[in-house]
Amino acid sequence: MIIAIDGPAASGKSTIARRLADELGYLYFDTGVMYRAVTYGALQQGVDISAEAEVSRLALEIEIDVRPASKSDGRQYDVLLNGVDITWEIRTPAVDTNVSQVSTYAEVRKAMTQVQRQIGLRGDVVMVGRDIGTVVLPEADLKIYLDATVEARAKRRYEERIARDEQVEYDEIISWMRDRDHIDSTRQIAPLRPADDAIIFDTTNLDADEVFEKVLSLII
Ligand code: CDP
Repeated sequence: MIIAIDGPAASGKSTIARRLADELGYLYFDTGVMYRAVTYGALQQGVDISAEAEVSRLALEIEIDVRPASKSDGRQYDVLLNGVDITWEIRTPAVDTNVSQVSTYAEVRKAMTQVQRQIGLRGDVVMVGRDIGTVVLPEADLKIYLDATVEARAKRRYEERIARDEQVEYDEIISWMRDRDHIDSTRQIAPLRPADDAIIFDTTNLDADEVFEKVLSLII
């Protein structure tokens, strides 16, 4: 079975997807890490993020790998860029502010979508992103779209980062989240939106257990 979970930042996608994959014995794949890895690679190499051709070239050149977690420091998996562990580096404010711009580029999306589709079509997978149910795997057996108010989502992300001892401001988080929501949902290629046959949950007033039970009840 192929399960697609889409939705905006911090709507609870990765928590639910991970639990669902563990419960069913499926592969969990978070497609956001690929866009984050390209963005990190571009920033690291000093590539101007607005230079579409250069960023696209880099996306085709780099090797992104996602593997089972090698450390128990809160990570769900290891993310490697050309063999180097960048699991936490892709979660920095610099990546947060630039990733949506990188994700608008057609050639970047084409390269990422191709890999994601290959992995997804093997089946027994819970794939998470923005366009999984609409573009990457429109044939998915179950499509879930998680949403929540931007205030609730910013609060969750703020608490996550504080728990990791990071110096962050709530106002800053809600501001980049609004910007990202806007870019992601208005871009021309594969914008963030629920597929016509997606089941939509508003998680604003639900905790992770409640969302998990609701989603699981659709399967079992
Ligand atoms: O974890 P969070 O929800 O903050 O974001 P993410 O899932 O890691 O995705 C980061 C960014 O990558 C999104 O804001 C999108 O711009 C882009 N993305 C995308 O365009 N398509 C996907 N399938 C997944 C992510």
